Amino acid sequence: MLSSRIEHKWIESFVRTFTICKIEPGATVAIVSESTSRQQNVQLAELALLRMNARPFHLVLPSPPQSIDVPVRSSGASDALTGQAAALAAMKASTMVVDLTIEGLLHSREAQEVLAAGSRILYVSNEHPEILERLGPDPALKNTVARSVDRLRQAKTMRISSPTGTDLSVNVVDARIGGGWGAVDAPGQLGHWPGGLVAAYPMGGAVNGTVVLSPGDINLTFKRYLETPVVLTIETDQIVSVEGDGLDAQLMRSYFAAWNDDNAYYTSHLGWGVNPTARWDSMTMYDRGDHNGVEQRAFAGNFLFSTGANKHANRYTLGHFDIPMKNCTVLLDDSLVVREGVLQPEFV
Ligand SMILES: [Fe+2]
Repeated sequence: MLSSRIEHKWIESFVRTFTICKIEPGATVAIVSESTSRQQNVQLAELALLRMNARPFHLVLPSPPQSIDVPVRSSGASDALTGQAAALAAMKASTMVVDLTIEGLLHSREAQEVLAAGSRILYVSNEHPEILERLGPDPALKNTVARSVDRLRQAKTMRISSPTGTDLSVNVVDARIGGGWGAVDAPGQLGHWPGGLVAAYPMGGAVNGTVVLSPGDINLTFKRYLETPVVLTIETDQIVSVEGDGLDAQLMRSYFAAWNDDNAYYTSHLGWGVNPTARWDSMTMYDRGDHNGVEQRAFAGNFLFSTGANKHANRYTLGHFDIPMKNCTVLLDDSLVVREGVLQPEFV
């Protein structure tokens, strides 16, 4: 059991992150949380901002009722702000929003409005502060992510293969490309802590092939290392079969079916992790409630496969799997990005 006490060192780690975000004395900062948010992080944000002589204030929104009787995980689209015009106005008037909602406001309708008003949003992932402490933003990662995003924007095709039979082709022309390095240091930016991810939301009809999930890959919706293979066949973005006899395939078929929604059976974002500090194995050390799995989405050299919503292709659903895969080879056109799970020097 990890400590739920406020530790001085964690205040320091929040100060370091907000300093990298260029928060100056006197800056007005909205700390946005839900009634069910991790209170430790809510308090740490306040204490760190006060230490920096900023002017924090709290917006605490009731966690919304379940819209469906299926547990929703890793959607990245909190709906806690829906209909909360007064809260939204306060966020737009702030220098920065520290987003401590459970799912995060990254893909929410309101985020773009807040950014357009000249604020910036840092989603502090729903992790135990020990994880945030280990994975503080590194300015060096900013360049890595920026270069990777540029390369992905220039590419036409991403191809992914693995020794166990993955062979996937993604047309990334006109894809929506994004990346996060762990901080936001200018107005209009949206980021997440921990950072170290690059991802593409392709246009519709861009993804074809086979994904073979293997032991050691991670289904982060379930927060579970796979122990048995699962074979996904993908035709024009659609997952047309989920094969496998083991428990992992059974769980995936069950959760897919629970949505009763064709859109759940499609690919979402595709990309790779670049964070050299993030660890593949660390999920073994935490209880499920202690972490949100961003570390495993970000570890350097993983291919991050996902299913569910892709607004860029006009597909909406709350059903979402984020699955970092080990040992994959990722090519952008003819350039090697990841070779058998190792990020190539040009992309470090
Ligand atoms: Fe995702």
